[in-house]
Amino acid sequence: MKAKGAIKSVRGVKDVLPSESLKWRLVEETALEIFTLYNFKEIRIPTFEKTEVFKRSIGETTDIVEKEMYTFTDRGGESLTLRPEGTASVVRAYVENGLYNPPGVTKLFYMGPMFRAERPQAGRFRQFHQIGAEVFGTDDPAIDAEVIIMLMDLFTELRVPGLKVLLNSLGCPECRPAFRNALYEFLKERESDLCKNCQSRIDRNPLRALDCKSPTCKAITENAPTIDKYRCDSCETHFNNVRKPLLDLEIPVTVDPKLMRGLDYYSRTAFEVVSEGLGAQNSVAGGGRYDSLVEQFGGPKTPAIGFALGIERLISLLASEDEEELAEYPDIFIVPMTETASLRSFEIAHRLRSYGYQVERTFGIASMKSMMKKADRSKAKYTLIIGEDELKKGMGTLRNMNSGEQIETSFNDIADILDEEP
Ligand code: HAM
Repeated sequence: MKAKGAIKSVRGVKDVLPSESLKWRLVEETALEIFTLYNFKEIRIPTFEKTEVFKRSIGETTDIVEKEMYTFTDRGGESLTLRPEGTASVVRAYVENGLYNPPGVTKLFYMGPMFRAERPQAGRFRQFHQIGAEVFGTDDPAIDAEVIIMLMDLFTELRVPGLKVLLNSLGCPECRPAFRNALYEFLKERESDLCKNCQSRIDRNPLRALDCKSPTCKAITENAPTIDKYRCDSCETHFNNVRKPLLDLEIPVTVDPKLMRGLDYYSRTAFEVVSEGLGAQNSVAGGGRYDSLVEQFGGPKTPAIGFALGIERLISLLASEDEEELAEYPDIFIVPMTETASLRSFEIAHRLRSYGYQVERTFGIASMKSMMKKADRSKAKYTLIIGEDELKKGMGTLRNMNSGEQIETSFNDIADILDEEP
């Protein structure tokens, strides 16, 4: 029953309750393990930044910047924004802290909440969580392939079924202008049929029409020019060299010349990992190369690539039987039958916890029946019942909750018995 008049959470913002948090931990710990195998180091970035950080990098004409940022003016009159994604902050931190010195390849990852004022629906939240990885300092297509392989390793380790990588190359400052012009001409001829939003940004950024969510724009852009016809030789070679190792490792890749991504900073490689099981919000992860962003933030010319996955979407794909597998129940549940026994329980529990056993106990003295019910519900392996008479002898009754077998045991021997448990 829901409490009447109780304050509710903000729409599109979720609690992660204990029944689900074990899966969150599994995802975060597995990511940490896999990323460490690839020599990534963790960076912790702030949850809010100067608005400029996101505006400049994600792009003024993107949905995120135009409609979805949580921006506010702080008491000093400065415009600040809750981070809608992590890449811009990582680039800002990379430049601000001179991480390009000494020169070389820098591999960073991060985890945490992101904020976008989108219309909430299944798989789309206003506060959601990402695990992201960014690599600075090389434009070798080998790193593009490596980050995609790392991401897919993570999904494989978590046994997520039915995923595939959509892959595209968005060209570079050499070849993209010709594509942009062709697209512009195409859209201009159909301008009156486009949604208001696309009409308003057609001159400033025609590429945005390619990932517009409106059904009419989607239908119009179905036949729009695609980047693959315009890529220069160097981008084409780069793209082929990204694909080769992925094919060799049998990563399920589909080349999708229409894949555009909703952020402006990409050049060359762009990809999304999509799932058959996710419905409309089917993208579990997305990423790509952003070779000019570091320079744009005032750093030296530094090519870079990265991705971010959505934790909520990933978790919705994890098998539900995992939960029981992940659950950790007490090794022992202490039931003191009197106040004196309750006091003695502290010492016993403290000692067992110091050995690494999970210990739970009853609070408040009640009937044996009701306390045993609590022990049962805790799913503990053993219950230790301490009565007044036994206490005087330094003994308690230890019950194996699985077999129902009971023995009288000295408090000092309990750890040894727990130790025998396979
Ligand atoms: P993105 O595609 O905007 O890319 O987001 C990455 C992932 O975050 C999505 O695939 C999705 O799983 C999750 N996500 C995004 N918005 C929501 C939402 N409203 N609710 C739930 N999940 C969501 C980026 O953010 C780039 N920074 C990725 C990147 C890193 N590119 C290069 N480096």
